Amino acid sequence: MKILIVGSGGREHALIWKISQSKRVKNIYSISGNAGTKDLAQNVDIKVSNIIEIADFAQEEKIDLTVIGPELPLSLGIVDEFNKRNLKIFGPRQKAAYIESSKAFAKEFMRKNNIPTPEFNIFNSPDSALDYIKEAVFPIVIKADGLTGGKGVFICEDVNKAEESIKTIMVEKKFGEAGDKIIVERFLKGQEMTFMVISDGKRVIPLVTSMDYKKIFDYDEGPNTGGMGAISPFPQIDTTLYNNIMKSIISPTIEGLRFEGKEFRGLLYAGLMIVNNSPYVLEFNVRFGDPETQAILLRLKSDIVDLLEASAEGHLIDIPVEWDTSVSACVVLSSKGYPLKYETGKVIDGLKRAKSLGVEIFHAGTIFKDNSFYTSSGRVLNICAIAPTLKETMKKIYDAISFVSFDNIYFRQDIGRSKK
Ligand SMILES: Nc1ncnc2c1ncn2[C@@H]1O[C@H](COP(=O)(O)OP(=O)(O)O)[C@@H](O)[C@H]1O
Ligand SMILES: [Mg+2]
Repeated sequence: MKILIVGSGGREHALIWKISQSKRVKNIYSISGNAGTKDLAQNVDIKVSNIIEIADFAQEEKIDLTVIGPELPLSLGIVDEFNKRNLKIFGPRQKAAYIESSKAFAKEFMRKNNIPTPEFNIFNSPDSALDYIKEAVFPIVIKADGLTGGKGVFICEDVNKAEESIKTIMVEKKFGEAGDKIIVERFLKGQEMTFMVISDGKRVIPLVTSMDYKKIFDYDEGPNTGGMGAISPFPQIDTTLYNNIMKSIISPTIEGLRFEGKEFRGLLYAGLMIVNNSPYVLEFNVRFGDPETQAILLRLKSDIVDLLEASAEGHLIDIPVEWDTSVSACVVLSSKGYPLKYETGKVIDGLKRAKSLGVEIFHAGTIFKDNSFYTSSGRVLNICAIAPTLKETMKKIYDAISFVSFDNIYFRQDIGRSKK
């Protein structure tokens, strides 16, 4: 088989790594890849937003299956374009991807289908939102409706911060059209959990649970990031909680979307807040999480291609999926200053020595030139490992990290260790 992966982060490197283990796969192509994917795939320089050119490429190269990493091409309708040309692709159509690309749609969908989610109000104008927050109980959460690359959510401790956030989104239009509407939502205190399933529109296969470390500083201080680390499984998962998530969230979401003519094929990601062992949906994503995917794929024993293909073809039945019961984790090495301002172009050293300790290293923002690796983005590398206990896993990862260096390296020291 010839497989094409769209996206160029750590998530895509991990997917390529797992796909490359399949006996069915002969060639892998990566749009546009990074310095890590080039060893397992052929990097192809096309923008992920250029869905027509990607479809042309898949057609010309006779790609057997295309797998989409990031949300942007899904929200632009890449799956519809592939379907039109009879090309096989893993992911939801544009209409179903709407559950990620419009948070207002997602919230109204949840209200209609009785899916537990924090109470909320939606506003179409800054004035009505500014009026509302005068009476609100703080903290509250203010969210831009559309895609903002993880930058459009503000946790507001008081009315001043709320006003500032509404102005940033709706008056200054920092996120463009994504800020035409906002959601003002009740703040929930609890533990965040990631629950991902693969669906063919009717059936679902749950993946193992995980937990993402969103904030930039240790012990969850500072601003949100794309994710600074992940562990799998979620430490406090039990059968009651698991069954509750399947019954009150996953099933009604897949059924509700189908009922609305938005059949969901691909990966559904529920970002949950667990409060007193009850789950609430903070948001849905329609693609693999980053960096949770890097951690969970280390636990997957089965052939991922069978799973992705069955979802794409709509017959997710009798696909055996086996998981390692060990604990896996991922720590993100980033450029100091991320998620705000940071420098790139720094030489990376020590990757070989780090790897020799038995970790997997997935590249995110790296380039390779003149025989060296260089940093090229905020999130640079993912150091991942698996071991029987969380303690052993984290020791392996942090021991390996001690060999990796680049100017202004920054990473969280508390992944898998925090008082969560
Ligand atoms: N209602 C809420 N209560 C508490 N924290 C929240 C709430 N909504 C969002 N958050 C925090 O903000 C983060 C980002 O919000 P999310 O809805 O996942 O948007 P996005 O991932 O698109 O930025 C969450 O991972 C969580 O840490
Ligand atoms: Mg999120």
